[in-house]
Amino acid sequence: MKHFTRISDLGPEGVQQILAKAATWKRERPGAIFTDRILGMVFFNPSLRTRASFEAAMLRHGGHAIVLEVGAGTWKLEDRDGAVMNGDRAEHVREGVPVLGRYADLLAVRTFSGGEGDAVDETDPVINAFRRFSTVPVLSMESAREHPHQGLADLLTIQETHGSTKVPVTLTWAPHIKPLPKAVPNSFLLTAAACGADIRVAHPKGYELAPEVRAEAEAYAAATGGKITYTNDQDAALEGSAAVYAKAWGPSTSSGIEAAPMADLAAWMPTAAHLQKASREAIFIHCLPVRRNLEVHDSVLDGPWSRVVDEAENRFHVQRATIHSLLSQS
Ligand code: CP
Repeated sequence: MKHFTRISDLGPEGVQQILAKAATWKRERPGAIFTDRILGMVFFNPSLRTRASFEAAMLRHGGHAIVLEVGAGTWKLEDRDGAVMNGDRAEHVREGVPVLGRYADLLAVRTFSGGEGDAVDETDPVINAFRRFSTVPVLSMESAREHPHQGLADLLTIQETHGSTKVPVTLTWAPHIKPLPKAVPNSFLLTAAACGADIRVAHPKGYELAPEVRAEAEAYAAATGGKITYTNDQDAALEGSAAVYAKAWGPSTSSGIEAAPMADLAAWMPTAAHLQKASREAIFIHCLPVRRNLEVHDSVLDGPWSRVVDEAENRFHVQRATIHSLLSQS
């Protein structure tokens, strides 16, 4: 059974194949490639882009999508082995997931981090339960550890702008009102490394990405000729970059370094002045949604650098490619 819930399911070669297919199908519409196919979509958390782009991918190419919002019209799902189910989770994934496989040709799941720390996020308990019990291929629509379709869309956006992914890119931490999961920065790092980019990751002390994710990215960079630099100096990271990705994420729970409170880090919010330190051709990307003038300044989002809407469109293009790839193999 092939699944796609993490970049390691594809590896650098698979990432290139998906990007190539997505770019081709962006130019030449592929036709009714999903006729009579059903995608079952299971949301534990909200979405705008992910839900709309996956549904659109199925509907535009002859297929169908069933959308379930866990706990809102469906039973709440238990994923823990051996749990005494005396709380509000009325159905176990051991039954619920294979049942869905009797109706759908593949399942897509969104399940955010539960905020229990980097070590728990590394085990990705809910999406891995779906992998374990599903009888049909499973796609990630973001999990505790990764948001792999976002990473693919990010790199497609860079590739179509610069003609290559082997360019200097900056992933910079940005402020927020609350600690956010690391799935998006993890996926940008992993996918960019799998594409051979020169990646600068800038963040305040105490906001390090998890060591397991960093080690995986290093392995991809070694295989693809990429490079990864970590720094607490945002200006140095921005210098000469062809793409700037700003994203809020929460403090590290594995580095042992005490993080400064986010309220003290407002200067990390990218502004036009920050983007002027990047290369003249630099683009700005962000997964969205974005909190304006807290995480990213209006002058960036409304400025000449911004490709955030193109990037969101590219979710649709990369997802057509991954859905088709899994359906072709199953
Ligand atoms: N980027 C992204 O996944 O957006 P949504 O949370 O709206 O799906």
